[in-house]
Amino acid sequence: MSAASTPGTSTPTPGTSEPGTSQPGAVVEIVGLHKSFGEREVLKGIDLGVAQGEVVCVIGPSGSGKSTLLRCVNLLEQPTAGTIRVLGTDVTDPDVDIDAVRTHVGMVFQQFNLFPHLSVLDNCTLAQRTVLGRSREEAEAIARKNLDHVGLADRAASSPGQLSGGQQQRVAIARALSMDPALMLFDEPTSALDPELVGDVLAVMRDLADDGMTMLVVTHEMAFAREVADRVIFMDDGVVVEQGAPDQVVGAPQHERTRSFLARVLDPTHRHTA
Ligand SMILES: Nc1ncnc2c1ncn2[C@@H]1O[C@H](COP(=O)(O)OP(=O)(O)OP(=O)(O)O)[C@@H](O)[C@H]1O
Ligand SMILES: [Mg+2]
Repeated sequence: MSAASTPGTSTPTPGTSEPGTSQPGAVVEIVGLHKSFGEREVLKGIDLGVAQGEVVCVIGPSGSGKSTLLRCVNLLEQPTAGTIRVLGTDVTDPDVDIDAVRTHVGMVFQQFNLFPHLSVLDNCTLAQRTVLGRSREEAEAIARKNLDHVGLADRAASSPGQLSGGQQQRVAIARALSMDPALMLFDEPTSALDPELVGDVLAVMRDLADDGMTMLVVTHEMAFAREVADRVIFMDDGVVVEQGAPDQVVGAPQHERTRSFLARVLDPTHRHTA
């Protein structure tokens, strides 16, 4: 599915807008991205592509700009300079129909952002019905399939408050999947969870990756990054310091900044200081 196939939108067809800049098969193409908050520049020229079916994990110290980078991809933050193409559409174009692009991009945050007054099932059908115009019956069938996928088929009637954090996060993933996204963005989806709940969420993400989902994942879970990522990006102070295969970046980092970051996160006594 591509943003360009959405009826009634102004999103350009991939490859027809600005010839020569769009890579075939690229789901995300970020070129020269800068982002400042006031005087403070937090992204200092990021170039990053994510290909169809690729899993890219972004690691780096607190404050290095990981969340800001992710948020720029679906324009939750407005870039200061640079271009970002998502599914061939330049989201930095002032005339972009960003809602049409966001329809194809699932985002899962550290906080689950479920509606507490709606059942699990209704949380997973709301946007399907209001944004995609699906009937209740169709939306519920899709939601149930995705709840089954994340191991929560039997909790459809529960309210979010009756679920553990890990279960709520899996509902958030099922909700995102119910929109048939072409790209999933994850921002530290397990970092608010008790350690014993992390594994189930990572297992769902691993399944998604195995199914060929294109994923851009900010994570502190080095074992996950090493096992699941096709590519790992190490960011520090608003730049990509190093990127490559997980065994290379996590296993044999070239840069001192990467080495010292990994030494901190891989030392269990300093887990939460990275
Ligand atoms: N809305 C905002 N207004 C002002 N400054 C911001 C805003 N959002 C982020 N920043 C600043 O931008 C920098 C990068 O923040 P960001 O949240 O992207 O870091 P991060 O790498 O995701 O960190 P963490 O690992 O702690 O989540 C930080 O210095 C932060 O204070
Ligand atoms: Mg962050």
